[in-house]
Amino acid sequence: MLKGTVKLNGDKSISHRILLFGALASGGCTIYNLSTCQDVQRTINILKNCNIKINKENNKTTVVNSIVKPRVNRFYCGNSGTTARFMLGFLPSIGVSGTIYGDKSLSTRPMQRLIEPLLKMNINIKTIKNYLPITFEKSKIKPINLSLKHPSAQIKTALIFAALSSSSKTIIRDPFNTRNHTENIIKYLNGPKDYYSKFQIKKFDYTVPGDISSASFIIAGAILIKGSDILIQEVLFNETRIGYIKILQKMGAKISVLKKRTINFETVADIRVQYTQNLQAVHLTRADIVNMIDEIPIFALISCFAKGTTSISHAAELRLKESDRIKSIVYNLKLCGGNVVEKPEGLIVKQSKLLYNTSIKSFHDHRIAMMCEILKLITLNELTDDSQNIKIINTSFPKFYKHLRELHV
Ligand code: S3P
Repeated sequence: MLKGTVKLNGDKSISHRILLFGALASGGCTIYNLSTCQDVQRTINILKNCNIKINKENNKTTVVNSIVKPRVNRFYCGNSGTTARFMLGFLPSIGVSGTIYGDKSLSTRPMQRLIEPLLKMNINIKTIKNYLPITFEKSKIKPINLSLKHPSAQIKTALIFAALSSSSKTIIRDPFNTRNHTENIIKYLNGPKDYYSKFQIKKFDYTVPGDISSASFIIAGAILIKGSDILIQEVLFNETRIGYIKILQKMGAKISVLKKRTINFETVADIRVQYTQNLQAVHLTRADIVNMIDEIPIFALISCFAKGTTSISHAAELRLKESDRIKSIVYNLKLCGGNVVEKPEGLIVKQSKLLYNTSIKSFHDHRIAMMCEILKLITLNELTDDSQNIKIINTSFPKFYKHLRELHV
């Protein structure tokens, strides 16, 4: 069973964003509890390659901005879609020219949906195609007024970072209510309220709350392993990120939210999770999906234990993640005896008895790898931590095995 208390490294989404704001701040910033994951390291490396000084000492990271002076003209994003998309808005607008490229998986992820509005903002993109590598030149940003066409906080944020270099007003509407950390950080930094434009960012301090998406895997373990009772402290509890928690509570999961408080415009809480025997199936709506998009793989695993039929629809975005997650979830759960049906925009899961199968695989996708590890833990009471999996999971959650080992009794 899982027992005890855990505190997680900073949320990955907020970590990327706060680094870019630190790079724009006169006097830089001090960040506590920044994510230590590989994806965030990609963002750090690119900023350093532009002459922004970033120093890490234990839990404290300092960012000092200086005159932007790129040392390279090819910027590697590894597996990180967030880095690639943010940088396509950020770099040209701070006066950098070059090429963004990534690993095999990132090179198959769609970029046209971002390039289209960036071109409208006058970003000089040289390679007008849907995939990385993409070459761009430093550009003078034109303001825009648009509504997002896709439910993507990465696109929204890339456009906002571009807009922050222009003194004219840009308006971006988000009808999907995607994660709003960029907007919250702008509030914290006293930026303009109803539009985006250049504003003076003074030196600041920021503590990143624990990563709620990393927490989702530990939460799943606690719900599904008999006798478990854990407390996750100081975790991000932003409304646009807690779809998973709300749905699990609706299914009857024993989750209590304690000490809910707001720090720097972000909600933070402690979450107690206990083993739950009688989960009930649910139907996820379009609005549910947006607020739990990264948690669908682990949610699909939990649904196998819920009485009835769970339907996950309006989730076509899952096919565009680090792997085609609809396919990778269905492949693995089916192999283990899951009664799962693939749909064009989601999946249907019926209550099933899962048995471990050695052929399950990660598809080189960190969230699928962690889903498989939790599956192994609940069926065999074992964790693998083979070197290949460690590497993949480091993408978002380097302490995955460490925390599970500490909690596992
Ligand atoms: C993220 C937004 C989401 C999410 C990703 C992180 C962000 O991607 O899946 O893990 O930090 O803005 P999309 O914007 O593609 O939905």
